[in-house]
Amino acid sequence: MHTENQATSILQQRIKSMPSQLAILGSGWSRVLEGAEIEAEVGFQEWLGVSASVPGHDGKLVIAKLNGHRVAIMAGRLHTYEGYTAEQVTLPIRVLAAAGVTELLVTAACGGLNPEYQVGDFVILNDVMTLFLALDNPLVGPKFLDMSAVFDVELRAKAKAIMTKHQIRFQEGSYCYYHGPNYESPVDKRALHILGADVVGMSTVPEVLVARWLKLKVTGLAFVTNLAFVKHDHKEVLAAAEAASSQMVTVLQEFLTSASEN
Ligand code: HPA
Repeated sequence: MHTENQATSILQQRIKSMPSQLAILGSGWSRVLEGAEIEAEVGFQEWLGVSASVPGHDGKLVIAKLNGHRVAIMAGRLHTYEGYTAEQVTLPIRVLAAAGVTELLVTAACGGLNPEYQVGDFVILNDVMTLFLALDNPLVGPKFLDMSAVFDVELRAKAKAIMTKHQIRFQEGSYCYYHGPNYESPVDKRALHILGADVVGMSTVPEVLVARWLKLKVTGLAFVTNLAFVKHDHKEVLAAAEAASSQMVTVLQEFLTSASEN
């Protein structure tokens, strides 16, 4: 894997000016690129020296125009379950923040733990559970980060307004990071719910920690692809996300193109 300096210099050669907004597209969220005007594309292999290895994750950084508005999009991400440390997984965030990104939208697929949630619900994240990053924290050193309000309140309200306007079913809840790659067992899921998590997934939290340390404004959107206590596999996760892809495109387009007006 490239070092931060290598990834920075490759980016500087390939992308002349960095938009202020970055969206990371998780499993199933990539359709928004189909309607975008692509200005530049750098594959993870070239940029980071490694590629994303999961079906549903392309692994590229794209500079695109959505409705005429320039944004940076990571289609795919690295995960700790692929064997990377949380510090490696968050290298793109550090490089992109240094290049000028000030606002991050993280998206993910997730499993619902809260019994009120249904497959197909969008979740505007209002908190993250970091307990399970205790042995592999992406913040190395005396970085005593305040976590009292990780997600930007105004941007959360904006996400809520977009969902309401388009009559998209949504929840507001907390996301728990789980290392994976195995899905949680029934008792894991019961335990995570008792601990306070509404949804669970295998990403997002490392990026959020680093982004907050670097003072980015962060929004998190998750999409419930399966319910916790029902058997499920990765194909079903992708199929559930595919079924809602037009809603995802609407939400992303509207969120990303109106964010800079704040
Ligand atoms: N658990 C963890 N990650 C996930 C899930 C799940 O149930 N669904 C989608 N990503």
